[in-house]
Amino acid sequence: MDDDLKRVYIKTYGCQMNVYDSERMTDALATAGYAPVRSADDADLVLLNTCHIREKAAEKVYSELGRLRELKDSAAAAGRRMVIAVAGCVAQAEGAEIVRRAPLVDIVVGPQAYHRLPELIAAARPGRPAIDTEFAVAQKFAALDGIAARGGERQRHERANVRAAAFLTIQEGCDKFCTFCVVPYTRGPEVSRPVAAIVAEAERLAGEGVREITLLGQNVNAWHDTGPDSREWGLGRLLFRLAEIPGVDRLRYTTSHPRDMDDALIAAHRDLDALMPYLHLPVQSGSDRVLAAMNRRHTRADYLRLIDRIRAARPDIALAGDFIVGFPGETAADFAETMSIVDAAGYVDAFTFKYSPRPGTPAAAAADQVIEEIKDRRLYELQAEIDARRSAFIRSRVGVVADVLFERRGRLAGQIVGRSPWLMPVHVDGPESLIGGIAAVAITGAGTNSFFGALIASPGVPVAAAVAAVEARA
Ligand code: 5AD
Ligand code: SF4
Repeated sequence: MDDDLKRVYIKTYGCQMNVYDSERMTDALATAGYAPVRSADDADLVLLNTCHIREKAAEKVYSELGRLRELKDSAAAAGRRMVIAVAGCVAQAEGAEIVRRAPLVDIVVGPQAYHRLPELIAAARPGRPAIDTEFAVAQKFAALDGIAARGGERQRHERANVRAAAFLTIQEGCDKFCTFCVVPYTRGPEVSRPVAAIVAEAERLAGEGVREITLLGQNVNAWHDTGPDSREWGLGRLLFRLAEIPGVDRLRYTTSHPRDMDDALIAAHRDLDALMPYLHLPVQSGSDRVLAAMNRRHTRADYLRLIDRIRAARPDIALAGDFIVGFPGETAADFAETMSIVDAAGYVDAFTFKYSPRPGTPAAAAADQVIEEIKDRRLYELQAEIDARRSAFIRSRVGVVADVLFERRGRLAGQIVGRSPWLMPVHVDGPESLIGGIAAVAITGAGTNSFFGALIASPGVPVAAAVAAVEARA
């Protein structure tokens, strides 16, 4: 490695938003002379990009910092300074408390202040940490646009591997205040990134060879801005604009709130081929009583009506959700409603969570907390149902022809792996030269979480023939 370059090791926890933010921090740090490395051992800067959504998130960060203590001490013994930075939602939530409990930390930076990292590094001194947990999302977006524009060339050059799919943040924060959730406190109020900046980043990604873009936001479908036609644009309109960019063949977005699924967005699912037939639309519970206590601001019937409208627009859509079991006050009857909405809405996948109190959120203070054994039992039952539905969906696709975007080599020799329209991966025997491109595949078999498929050599080859060819080889 070039001796002029400093080394940064970034450890990323949690959601796709954090993965995206870590990439942007890598870009911001590249402009300050830092190159990413794969191990903390001899790094000049160790950055933990933390997540606060899971239980005991802060405690996990403190124990990781405990482990870093030794590394930092041995670096100091060797006359080298190792800067330790904590970023992400735990940084936002804990603020200065982090340096009080873990004095080895030099920098605490909240999700809205990443563009200031180089400044914070320059400002931090031993015993005088630099802390920035301001909510200044608009500035963050603007600053990151500048960094991305400057860093683009370098990245294109350095990224030896083709990147077929990428994330693009279009919105941050949340105003919904579900009573179980820390996001409105850690990520702040909803802020939308301007259309022009989103289009510019999508064009840059397409120029690098990216074929599929997943738009990100804590409440991505709340995105809105004034378009170049001076009209108010929502996510539906934005998706149409992005699909016009040459090379942008596929679009997705995550994560959505049912309240923000407007007509234009549903129409995009009907009319926009580039919008993949997959939707992650959390419901959290199937019980009206629990939904009200969660402050979700919709009923079970509202949600099911919405799903009907979406399916009318896009009959083959694969629906995924999020569920919380054991929310305070959840009875056996409430949980039965959750089990029944899984079937009524027809999920093919879901993330399932046991409720766990987040300090400072309203539900954490509720008196009627559900005991752990009951939460465990309900989680098990729900997961079994989701697993069965996922398997049934995967099996139901066998015999279908689908476009697959190839992303990487498989574990077996001669195998390549790509994304199906329904997001679940497809394993295919095929040449590596296909990586980065889209090809038609006959789905020939079902794995636990993925498909097996066979390339269709040319349009018009019947699926049965492709399937028979694969079977003959097996
Ligand atoms: N307990 C359990 N699950 C939670 N989630 C958010 N907060 C909590 C909590 N306090 C889940 C929700 C959300 C997902 C990202 O995490 O299902 O949609
Ligand atoms: Fe949290 Fe999502 Fe509710 Fe916002 S909408 S408070 S991010 S669960």
